[in-house]
Amino acid sequence: MRKITRIGLFGFGCVGRGLYDVLNQSQGMEADIVSICVKDKNKTRSLPADYFTYDKSDVLNNPNINLVVELIDNADEAFEIVTEALQKGKSVVSANKKMIAEHFEELYNLQRVFGSSLLYEGSSCGSIPIIRTLEEYYDNELLNSVQGIFNGTTNYILTKVAQEGIDYDTALHQAQELGFAESDPTLDVQGYDALYKACIVAAHAFGVFVKPADVFCYGIPAVGTEDVRIARERGMKIKLLATIRKTENQLAVFVMPAFVDSANHLYKVDNEYNGVFVEGVYSDGQFFQGKGAGSYPTGSAVLSDVSAQSYNYRYEYKKHRLEQQLSYGTDLNLRVYLRYADESLLQHFPFRHVYERHYEPDRNFNYLIGDINLQDLLNINNLRELPVFIALMPDVLSKI
Ligand code: HSE
Repeated sequence: MRKITRIGLFGFGCVGRGLYDVLNQSQGMEADIVSICVKDKNKTRSLPADYFTYDKSDVLNNPNINLVVELIDNADEAFEIVTEALQKGKSVVSANKKMIAEHFEELYNLQRVFGSSLLYEGSSCGSIPIIRTLEEYYDNELLNSVQGIFNGTTNYILTKVAQEGIDYDTALHQAQELGFAESDPTLDVQGYDALYKACIVAAHAFGVFVKPADVFCYGIPAVGTEDVRIARERGMKIKLLATIRKTENQLAVFVMPAFVDSANHLYKVDNEYNGVFVEGVYSDGQFFQGKGAGSYPTGSAVLSDVSAQSYNYRYEYKKHRLEQQLSYGTDLNLRVYLRYADESLLQHFPFRHVYERHYEPDRNFNYLIGDINLQDLLNINNLRELPVFIALMPDVLSKI
């Protein structure tokens, strides 16, 4: 039976405001925001002052509040709030992907020990209901892979740069103005935001709790107009992809740009949209698309969790509880494009096989396409500082 939901909200930024608006427009939800805990006393707010408190215990110790919705920016503070709420037996909804990905095991255990429930559909891929779909629809399905565009900001930038000729910095600025980017946009452009989401998705798709620090993560700051041109000449687009793939009895996870051809559903996913392609052993391929960032799309994902909490829905982590667990692994050969300024840089990249080479040394523009091992990529400590750009080629998993 549905319960009446009395929400204590933490944070009233882009997503918090979005939740407030979509909640007020929704019909059939018996849910009210009772109190909102915010940090900045001097900020002008769009709601009456009596909504707001600056003391988290006003929310956490309020017996009238039966649902805590955590939508703040700071992952460490979010973890403290969510931990305390779960320990008090309160249901929690959060959209904080960094906090969830970095503390997956602890949050899983807190829910088991205290019987409270944490839902976080809004943490991953904005409005696409991917977590609950993996958890419920694919609960017994063996999956081969989940691959997708998990970050709206980078997809917006790459779309504007490649299709509208807007420069990288202007496109990033626009993404910030539109409320897509994180308050620290490094998290978007360096791939970390997609990485956190990939770890969350991996837990629900394959039952494996992967630590973000163990995952190869390389973003888009090094992408150049020449790379965009090469992609266009080959009938492709460059997208930042998160890949979660089962190989034998291991699970590989990585985040990096990719050349995507027009046969791939992700090719048409532009601007702040996200796309997720799930490949099941029996169901075969299924594709999901939706707005991946922004106040209302994310607010609506949070609202769906608020609704789910009202009838006591909880994640069962079914795949994680299976006896036969996959283990996380990095021994996987990837076919990649590497653009580099001069030959000496190749010493960092132990290619297993090279298929194609292009030299234009007079203008420091060279590239090759070859197979490299994921662990070898992880071993390159200073990859982001090297004058190179690396991206997956469509034949993602080389057979060598
Ligand atoms: N900064 C994130 C993105 C917001 O651009 O996808 C949604 O998680």
